[in-house]
Amino acid sequence: METVVSGIRSTGKLHLGNYYGAIQNFVKMQHEYNCYFFIADLHSLTTHPTPADLHGNVKQVLVEYLAAGIDPEKATIYIQSDVPEIAELYLYMNMNAYLGELERSTSFKDKVRAHPDNVNAGLLTYPVLMAADILIHKATKVPVGKDQEQHLEMARTFGNRFNRLYNVDYFPEPYAFNFSANLVKIPGLDGKGKMGKSEGEANAVYLSDPPEVIRKKVMRAVTDGGPTTENQEKPAEIQNLFDLLKVVSSAETLQHFDALYNKCQIRYGDLKKQLAEDMVIAAAPIRERIEAIANDAPYLRKVANLGAEKAHQSALKTIKEVREIVGFRKF
Ligand code: TRP
Repeated sequence: METVVSGIRSTGKLHLGNYYGAIQNFVKMQHEYNCYFFIADLHSLTTHPTPADLHGNVKQVLVEYLAAGIDPEKATIYIQSDVPEIAELYLYMNMNAYLGELERSTSFKDKVRAHPDNVNAGLLTYPVLMAADILIHKATKVPVGKDQEQHLEMARTFGNRFNRLYNVDYFPEPYAFNFSANLVKIPGLDGKGKMGKSEGEANAVYLSDPPEVIRKKVMRAVTDGGPTTENQEKPAEIQNLFDLLKVVSSAETLQHFDALYNKCQIRYGDLKKQLAEDMVIAAAPIRERIEAIANDAPYLRKVANLGAEKAHQSALKTIKEVREIVGFRKF
């Protein structure tokens, strides 16, 4: 069975875009592959979070992924810092990652531009740690968005370089997992791009939002003055609302509002009310599970320990072999 690895950023609450865009795929994948999903708390140290914030974010992400349907009995869900072998492999990989290529990475350049006062070595070697995350389980499939393509290419480079340096065929090449066939783009409520892309709470509906917050956000979504000719094309902000309906509402509801739009009889208030109610219905069970799991410390401890144990077993096997290859041998 092929191995899948994906790292989850330990910042921020999950929104409907994360849910329909990525998590539903994780949930499907866990039945078909040997999946490792981890919370990337080592990566998050580049921005120097306080210990309390760091811990709180890790907990929140763990809780929300479990609530959204990741099954800790099927997939291995773990916290990166629980598996010290990752840090060890990162050290070895740093020996064949070159300054020039790290400096040329677009995500590094973006971060230097955004935070010129905090250009630390961890930021520079972020792609090396990410490569270690993937190579430690010898994964071949990595379900990530387009923005991670360059990082994946670097992971292949570092793995191949290791193979060449030691004249072994040890690390397989990891590739972005392409589930584009059923990849849905979830727009935000501000009439612009993807949910969660722009700043501000109002653009995104979070899985943890209570019904009244969801209703308020949806009612404030950007619309236009309404169609003036029959069957006219929908402007972006209106198409966004229809795209959201497509995801959370029934086919009849979608057809109903589409027909009204085409006859120039649509009332956006009605559409938004329906959209809000369907979002409430979609989010409610997840939100209930978020609350239950967040208050169940023994369960969280059990899940974290189980994940750490399973990930550790896989990582230890790799690191023992890597040590042997490198020449760290027992006397
Ligand atoms: N860099 C990824 C992101 O920003 C997170 C990540 C870290 C990751 N390590 C990984 C993703 C390993 C896949 C595999 O989203």
